[in-house]
Amino acid sequence: MNSMVIQADLGKDTISPHVYGNFSEHLGHCIYGGFWVGEDSPIPNVRGIRKDVVAALKKIKLPNLRWPGGCFADEYHWTDGIGPRENRPTMINTHWGGVTENNHFGTHEFLDLCEQIGCEPYICGNVGSGTVQEMSQWVEYVNFDGVSPMANLRRANGREEAWKVHFWAVGNENWGCGGQMRPEFYADQYRRFATYCRNYPDKPLYKVACGPCGPSYDWTDVLMRECTGRMNGLALHYYCGSGRESRSATQYAEGDWFFNLKNTLFMDELITKHSTIMDKHDPGNTVALVVDEWGAWHAVEPGTNPGFLYQQNTIRDAVVAAMTLDIFHKHARRVRLANIAQTVNVLQAVILTQDEKMLLTPTYHVFDMYKVHMDATLLPSHVAAEDYTFGPESIPAITASASRDAAGKIHVSMSNANPEQALDLSIQIRGQTVSSVTGKVLTGKTITSHNTFEAPRAVRPATFEGVKLSRNKLSVKLPPRSVIVLEVV
Ligand code: AHR
Repeated sequence: MNSMVIQADLGKDTISPHVYGNFSEHLGHCIYGGFWVGEDSPIPNVRGIRKDVVAALKKIKLPNLRWPGGCFADEYHWTDGIGPRENRPTMINTHWGGVTENNHFGTHEFLDLCEQIGCEPYICGNVGSGTVQEMSQWVEYVNFDGVSPMANLRRANGREEAWKVHFWAVGNENWGCGGQMRPEFYADQYRRFATYCRNYPDKPLYKVACGPCGPSYDWTDVLMRECTGRMNGLALHYYCGSGRESRSATQYAEGDWFFNLKNTLFMDELITKHSTIMDKHDPGNTVALVVDEWGAWHAVEPGTNPGFLYQQNTIRDAVVAAMTLDIFHKHARRVRLANIAQTVNVLQAVILTQDEKMLLTPTYHVFDMYKVHMDATLLPSHVAAEDYTFGPESIPAITASASRDAAGKIHVSMSNANPEQALDLSIQIRGQTVSSVTGKVLTGKTITSHNTFEAPRAVRPATFEGVKLSRNKLSVKLPPRSVIVLEVV
């Protein structure tokens, strides 16, 4: 019998809403076609930005959006993306398809997008091919309200008041596409760049250093040794599909399902080990582990540009998202900012668009169901789950977490990794008397169920009927391949 015990009267860590962030890069049709259609488009837009996409992101209460990359960030020169659009220079997007970037979506457009969504911007500066001065001036342009060359330039470009952007990353993947640096060299670069990213009045910067690639523990050790006290976050990147990018997002068998979910759970080990190193250098927990790129990386859809990373999204991706978010909750003390890659039309997207059409992926629905955990207190819990076994390997079949919100409601989220078997779970709630339970469930008819532009609602949340409450104990029957969120009061 699977069991979970939740201690409802305890809990000290808050689940940061910012672990529900998204990442949007100048890559394929994330920006162009995904967010930006231009003011003259027949697709309904506000100042060139799609209304349908903004409305969908408002609904999930998107807390922050990371931009402009990714690998693109370390080739991006922000001054190319300001001023009259017809005068902006073009560049080649060498990382992503070699296409010409016209820079029509730049700083003003991105910050307008964030204002329309109501989320915090998270800007990644260029360390790989940029200069200290360039990044310093970007911060001044965006954040300084007084009289200065950059603030005056911003005003000349139509924006009177500073935006006051809080989250700034100092480079991206500088161990790879962002300059192939060694950790010691990057640590010095970080210190230099970060020195000139100034805090202007009212908005001290939250500076995020480039962190490790998956299990590169040495990178974390060096960065924490050299930069603790100068940074607010250290960025970890981990894609759970890596190694099998040739596998389809929609056509797979149980072995691929298992492989993907096993890799998803590796996030727990990664965070645990990086956190242990961080604890050594930073026992006061001043530096957050920022997982600002995560998600499933599959093969691109047949017939699409391989450099555009356009992939479909199934119920398997929903389970990936649910497991990952539950892992983030468990590590709420250290993990305080995270960004799924990416928002629209790229990798594990929450939204897909096709001209004027838009669909919400199964991953979107997980973000929608799980948003109740934002800013809630993580409740200590213990799950004893049976194994889901495939061939010689096993993983726990159930991943779950629980939180208590400001109104005292308890939310329990969980996923069943077993693609074929329903599972019984008994949940004991201790320390608080509860009287009612409701729930939502997301599942698919098959292990490859997904939404298409012809059938955009094939996978969508439904009212969950498989839970009973008796004497503070919940009896739950999780359907195979499902994600569930319960509300207990
Ligand atoms: O998200 C796609 C790419 O993956 C990003 O540009 C890069 O940072 C990572 O390698």
